[in-house]
Parts: sequence; structure tokens; C-alpha cells
Amino acid sequence: MYRFGGLIDFNCGSRRSNAGACGAVKSNRATGISWTDLLDFMRPSSGVSVGFLINRRNPHAVIRNPRTTDSDILAGTSLFIEHCAACHGGRGQGSVAAPALAGVTLKHGVSDWAVYSTIRNGVPNTAMAPHMFEGKELWQIVSFIRSINVTAISGKPKIKKSININVPYQELETLSHPAEDWLTYSGSYRSNRNSSLKEINKNNVHQLSLKWTHQFSQKYGRVETSPIVRKGIMYMTVPPNRLIALDALSGKRIWEFKHKAPKKATGGYAGVVNRGVAIMDDKIFLASSDAKLIALSANTGRKLWESVIEEDISLYGVTSAPLAYKDFIVTGISTKRGGRGVIVAYDINTGAEKWRFHAIPGPGKKGNETWSGDSWKSGGASTWLTGSYDVEHDILYWGVGNPKPDYIKSARMGDNLYSNSVVALRGSTGEILWHFQFSPGDNHDWDAAQIPVLVDHVLEGDSSGQERKLLLWANRNGFYYVLDRLTGEFIQATPFVHQTWAERIDDNGRPVLKTENLKSRDGVLVFPSNKGGTNWWSPSYDPNLGLMFVPTLETGMVFFPGMETNSPPIPAGPIYTAVRALNAFTGELVWEYRNEIRTKDNTTGGLLSTQGGIVFGSDMSEFFALDSQTGELLWSMNAGEKIEGTPVTFSRNGKQYVVVAAGGDMMTFGLPDHRIKSDGDLANQTE
Ligand code: HEC
Repeated sequence: MYRFGGLIDFNCGSRRSNAGACGAVKSNRATGISWTDLLDFMRPSSGVSVGFLINRRNPHAVIRNPRTTDSDILAGTSLFIEHCAACHGGRGQGSVAAPALAGVTLKHGVSDWAVYSTIRNGVPNTAMAPHMFEGKELWQIVSFIRSINVTAISGKPKIKKSININVPYQELETLSHPAEDWLTYSGSYRSNRNSSLKEINKNNVHQLSLKWTHQFSQKYGRVETSPIVRKGIMYMTVPPNRLIALDALSGKRIWEFKHKAPKKATGGYAGVVNRGVAIMDDKIFLASSDAKLIALSANTGRKLWESVIEEDISLYGVTSAPLAYKDFIVTGISTKRGGRGVIVAYDINTGAEKWRFHAIPGPGKKGNETWSGDSWKSGGASTWLTGSYDVEHDILYWGVGNPKPDYIKSARMGDNLYSNSVVALRGSTGEILWHFQFSPGDNHDWDAAQIPVLVDHVLEGDSSGQERKLLLWANRNGFYYVLDRLTGEFIQATPFVHQTWAERIDDNGRPVLKTENLKSRDGVLVFPSNKGGTNWWSPSYDPNLGLMFVPTLETGMVFFPGMETNSPPIPAGPIYTAVRALNAFTGELVWEYRNEIRTKDNTTGGLLSTQGGIVFGSDMSEFFALDSQTGELLWSMNAGEKIEGTPVTFSRNGKQYVVVAAGGDMMTFGLPDHRIKSDGDLANQTE
């Protein structure tokens, strides 16, 4: 009988081979080397000599990890992701729940045996519980931790997937069309969602194939995210409040941040939907379902600051991506019932509030008189979709939602400013410069929650020959508007779907209502429906073709304007959706791509166009590519799950990819002549 370090009793015979070294081994369960450990050591290939073990008294000095091949590290990586990443982060970078394991000197010991023991035995009285893996698996995890944490051994930090992301404002301010990276919700401050990439183009798009999917591991609600991509790192949100940083070439998670919102956070769709994040410098900004704005390190997911947008989380929440420019990070808000929309700017470094714009002017402010009685106090006017920014003139454009209660006009007589308007605010102060109201005193739920598209163009027939600074807007009320974005001047409006509510739009841009709209109790059939001719689904503008691509919805509804029940309108017949290409400056239809007629589900997907001559779009679970010039279908595939997000595109190492969220998956497509390099997988096959 040998005694070993007081930990283990070996009862070994005299034979030499490892396997036979001990006829019987008793393990000390509390702290020592277990049976399975020993069996693993006793494999002739283990590299651990039991004889050695027996002759030395310190296991830390003699026990070496027997599982250190590349495939062991890979196996360890998967185990780590599955069992440890929730606390320690996908790459061991640490989180609020657990310390970093990468790039640090481990406090509970750095030897193989110490790390092994810490994992198996846990750290008493902490969240680090014992983990009962087989010896082999445990050693593989140790190998993984070693691979991300070589400082403990060599003193040289070498994290396997350390990222170093930085997006300076100087880069964003000059970016008019996205290319390699996708850096704002709509691709640039001008929100054209038109990429200059053309590796994937109308001649080869039919070869597009799936490169990877990342499955969201939890219940995901409706994934409407439009990711941000920077140097091959993708940031995407999963509702209610998760933000995941992925390797955009492999879909592998780098880190994840989860904000816990109280259950009662129910403002609007908040909690069901989160459309994405903003990036600036080395920070990522996430707005949450409980009306917080959160800044994180883009490199580690560590929280830097959190600010309260609105206190009453039963009323307010955020569903959309914030917008960052200069030192400002700006967000809108959703309200569920009543409430009062705001647009708020914070200091990107400190989270201090810089300015706050009330989408319903308070007493004494111009516009307050457009609400009867006290109706302004709870008139809604959510600001629930990301705006655009004119760098040169420091003007922020933001859409404002409908007045509440939704369908009861008599409760809030007047135009109800700034509901259903676009507001132009001074970017650095929040001061209102002008507004344009698309649907005054609305009772059809026609939010102006669309993407403001900024375009500079010489208008045909303009005798001055001057380039105009334009704001282009396909509105939920069914009209396509062209405005002067410096003055708010109305230039023209043209219906882009079947509409029956307005006689025309007058010279000031105000709709002249059809008298039959005033009919009441028995209901009025109105086109478009309460969902609108379009909605929050992103449009896309192609500067070379002068075309605006708009996701459209064709259907009507029976409204009951006089019943005062706030009851929603009733669907009236079938629905179809279409991608329509409009002359961006006249609103005339140039082509359309129609999806199949259906009887329900009045949503569709947002659009992306590229200089490869393609428009990417989706409807239900179909993801497709159209010829930008003709609308001809070039490629499509069924994602198997409904697509609610908007696609984006990026390139890395000269290869272009297209990404879209479908149901519970993030899917990335590319051309088939190259394969994606990822850990242990698929080196380039053809190059
Ligand atoms: C529920 C959260 C949680 C999970 C899951 C978790 N850990 Fe931990 N872990 C902790 C905490 C907290 C500590 C710090 C304990 C302390 O205070 O020293 C820790 C400490 C450690 C340490 C010691 C760090 C040091 O500095 O010495 C290692 C190694 C470790 N964990 C590995 C793992 C591995 C491997 C897994 C998965 C098999 C895992 N942990 C799963 C929370 C967790």
C-alpha cells in the first residue's frame, strides 16, 4: 500500500505496466484523483506514468493533460460552449456572472491538475458548481481553456478569438453606401440599404448557397433583427434582450449579452421584437424591452453603462435599433397604450442624457393645440423605428407613430402633432427644425414608422439645375412622398398601392379626404388596411437606376370610425404582397414582383439592393433575389421558417455574403466556389 499525497490510497502490486500497476485503487472522493482519472492515466498513451505519480508527492507537478490534440481542443470547445459559456462567455472572456478564463492567471491554480480539479469540484459557495464529466471530457475542456489562456503558462496573451473592433465616426460620416461592413441599421446614415458590393451579381446569384446557420438556443419570439457587421464580426439581437456577437464567417458565437427585463415590461411589441443595435468606436448599443439604453464593449460584451429612457416599463419599451453619430446615441420608444413618444440622445461615453424630444408637444409648445382637451397626455405617437442622419447639415430625421387611442378620432380632435409625421431635429440639440405630417388626425393606425431615405438629386424640370437634398418616403398611408429635407417643403406624392381614402394630396402635402370616409356606424371599406401600403419593412434605393424598391401590401379593411369602441377594423378579402420598384423622384411604378395571394398574414420582409444588380427580399419563408432593372426572379429558396428580418450583405477576405434571420435561425449565403474556414473544418477547397 502506497500513500500518495494524503489524497489517494494506491494498493498496488509490483508489476510495471501502467494498467497493471495497481490491482486495486481506492479513490478519495472528496478531493483526490478518481477512479476514472486513474483509468485515463493508465492508458499507455496517456503520458502520465503512474509510477511517477507514486514516487512524487505533488500531483500538480506530475499530472499532465493527456487530451491535447486539436480534436480534443475542438471537442472541449463544444463542451465549453454548451456547459460553461452561459457564465464564462463563449470564448472564456468572462461576464457579470463569472470571471474571465482567457488571458488571465487563474486564481484557483494554473497547473493542468488544478484547472481539472476546479472544474470537477467547483468552487464552494460560488456559482461555480462541480461538473461531473468523464475524465476524457474534462481534460478536453482543460485543453480548450489552455488554448484560450496561454498567459498562465507563457505570459504572452493569445486569446484564440480575441476581437478588436472600432468604428470611428469619421468612417461613418463619409459612408454613403455600405460595402465590406454593414455599420448602421439601414447600412449608412442615408438609409439607402444599397450595397456597393457586386461579387454576387445578377449573373451568378442563382448559385447562391447556404454557408452556415446559427440556431438561436432559446425561445426567440419574432426575430426581426438586421445585423451589424464589422470586419467579419456580426452583432445580432434575439428578442427580448439578447445580443450575440458571432464570427460572421462561421456563425460561431464569440460572446453573448443578455439583459434581464422584469416580466411586466410590456410596452408595445417590446419583448417580442428587437430589430438590432448601433455601433460607434468600440461600443455596441442595445435598447431594451424595459426602456433602457445599454452600452457594451463591442469586443467583450461587457456592460459599460445603462440609462433609463422611460421609468414606466408597463407602458414603454424599445423594439428598434438606436442610431449613433458623433458623441450621440439616439433612440426612440414604443408605447403600448397611451403614453407619449420621445426621441432621446445620450452621450456615447457616459450615458448621460443630452437632449429629449417629446413627439407630442407639451402645454405652451407649438403643436399642443392640435390635441383636444388633455388628449395630448396619452396620445401615443411612438417613435418605434430607427431614423436617418444628414451629416452635412446635422439633421436627424425620425418617423413618428399613430395617435392613440388608435381608431377613436373624437377622443383627440385635431391634427394630433407630431403623430404620423417625420420630424427633422438638430442632431446636436434635439431642437425641431420642421415636421411634415403625412396623415393628420389619423384613425387608421397609419404610423409614419418607415425608414427615411436621404438622396441628393437634380429633379427633372427644375430650372435651377441644382441638386436637391431630398427625403424619400413610402408611407403606410399608401402614398410615396418626395420632400425637401432641408426645409420640409412638399414636392410631390403618388399612391403606390390601391388607396381609397384620399381624393388627392394638396399642394402643401395635406390629404384631401374622400367624403365617404366620414360615413360611420355601418363601417367603411378602406384601402390600404390598418397595416398600411407598406410598414416598417425597409425599402432600398438604387442610385444608378434611380429606383426605390418598396415592400408593399395590397389589402383593404372595413373601418368603423363612428362606433367609438376602439375596435380594430375587419379584414376585407385576400391579401397579396409585392416588391415594387418606383421611380424614386415621381413615385411611378416601374416594375413589380408579386407574391402569391393569401387570406391571412399581412406581413412581409424588408429589402436590400446591391450594385450587383440585385434586390434581395422575402415573403413568408421565401427568400429571393430579383433583377433590379426588371424585377425578374433570379433565385429563391425556402428557409423553412418565416422571415421577419431584413437582409444585409458584407464581405470578408474579398468574398461577399448575404445574411437574413429566418424563424429561429440566422442564415448566411455565399457563392459556392469557396467554402468558409472555421475551426477544424473545411479549408478552402478550390483556391
Ligand atoms: C453558473 C455559472 C457558471 C458556470 C455554468 C460555470 N462556471 Fe466556472 N466559475 C463561475 C464562477 C462564479 C467562478 C468564480 C468562483 C470564485 O469565486 O472563485 C468560476 C470559476 C471557474 C474557474 C476558476 C477560475 C480561476 O480564476 O481560477 C474555472 C477554471 C472555471 N470556472 C471553469 C468552468 C468550466 C470549464 C465550466 C463549464 C464546465 C464552468 N466554469 C461553468 C461560474 C460558472
